[in-house]
Amino acid sequence: MSAFPAVRLRRLRRSEALRAMVRETSLSRRDFIYPYFVVHGRGVRDEVGSMPGVFQLSVDELTRDVRALAQLGVPAVLLFGLPERKDPRGREAYHPDGIVQRAVQAIKDVTPELVVITDVCLCEYTDHGHCGVVEDGRVLNDPTLELLAAAALAQAEAGADVVGPSDMMDGRVGAIRKALDGGGLTEVAIMAYSAKFASGFYGPFRDAADSVPQFGDRRAYQMDPANGREAMREIETDIGEGADLIMVKPALAYLDLIRRARDRFDHPLVAYNVSGEYAMVKAAARNGWIDERRVTLEILTGIKRAGADLIISYHAREVSEWLDR
Ligand code: PBG
Repeated sequence: MSAFPAVRLRRLRRSEALRAMVRETSLSRRDFIYPYFVVHGRGVRDEVGSMPGVFQLSVDELTRDVRALAQLGVPAVLLFGLPERKDPRGREAYHPDGIVQRAVQAIKDVTPELVVITDVCLCEYTDHGHCGVVEDGRVLNDPTLELLAAAALAQAEAGADVVGPSDMMDGRVGAIRKALDGGGLTEVAIMAYSAKFASGFYGPFRDAADSVPQFGDRRAYQMDPANGREAMREIETDIGEGADLIMVKPALAYLDLIRRARDRFDHPLVAYNVSGEYAMVKAAARNGWIDERRVTLEILTGIKRAGADLIISYHAREVSEWLDR
């Protein structure tokens, strides 16, 4: 009984009710983490040119926005900061009064139930735009670790629930865990950007976060897009150092690695649906070349079907308005 005409797969596609009954993957607002770009000032709400619908927000605007997001049922936000001044060692990243630290406190004041995740990296804060300490044109690994650990500690002290190192230095998860525990912040979790690739899909983000490297590129620390086995080693290493959540980033060109990570590890798995993936959908939709809502939901469903438990996405807000309550 394994062949036509006895077997007809179309029988269960006959009506929406039947299709819904046998649907294997569903999206929920609870699956999403929404990213924000926070800037100094008051009343600032600047749309990012390459990311329609995404804004750089000052803290007062952010708190208003976040309230609405929490009401929609999105459980978590991810914060990126643009400092007042950049310098070689990214001081504002670990200053107690840094922009992200202030944003965390403000969000916790208005919506304490919202999970606040902070991005731990130096590239938005350094004048050279690299994710670590630079010497003779090279990004140094070990001297960067203490700065990252200090940034994570400052964010956690401000009230972050989860810190998310995105720098790709070796040993950062362990260094951050040690700093948090040393500061008595044993309950703050680490979401490691474990398998993060040197990707062209980050282009629009670098406009949004003003983090374009001023020389060279990030290929000496972020991963080679060709490598899948190495991605598993990166994840394994982060888990060994104490990562609570693991991540594959970007999502769309790496769906096979999301699946491999899901099959191999039991940690909650996050996929980052990055800025370039968002921008492509927006650009095509603006030209009337695709059905925006349909394509967006198809992409996010695909990322979840590949094995992601959680999706960081700039689409999170609009999707939450579309999905059933
Ligand atoms: C910081 C960081 C980047 C992204 C997240 N954290 C940029 C980069 O590594 O160059 C990219 C996110 C996106 O494209 O949406 N290191």
